[in-house]
Amino acid sequence: RAATDYQAEDATISQGTVATNHTGYTGTGFVDYTNIKGSYVEFTVSAATAGTSALALRFANGTDTDRPLDISVNGTVVAAGVSFPATADWNTWVTKTVNVPLTAGSNKIRATATTANGGPNLDKVSVAAAADTQAPTR
Ligand code: GCU
Repeated sequence: RAATDYQAEDATISQGTVATNHTGYTGTGFVDYTNIKGSYVEFTVSAATAGTSALALRFANGTDTDRPLDISVNGTVVAAGVSFPATADWNTWVTKTVNVPLTAGSNKIRATATTANGGPNLDKVSVAAAADTQAPTR
């Protein structure tokens, strides 16, 4: 099933910066949350139909401490304190998947740091197409 990538460096960023000081990112960089609680990255995501979609967030966390994020859709927190645990180093990117409800049309998906450490470094999100309602062909 199709997924669409949204680069963090192209999203709306509050109290974070676009950075390139580690390897392995996609696009032209990644977002550094700059160790601020409440800093966020907000993606504008289009959905053809309403339904639950898998949101895959590609991140790196080169510390030994979890960097939780609250995930909201259109102003409502749909997943609080999602864990973004340590990765091997800042050059090692892994994916965390969260299922989120999307409305048909444009959606604002925001990932907000919940601690003073800020979020993990965030590379992109991949959004799966909304629930497939097409009948199987066999
Ligand atoms: C280091 C690292 C940054 C990271 C930061 C952090 O400075 O180089 O990429 O964002 O730690 O603690 O978040």
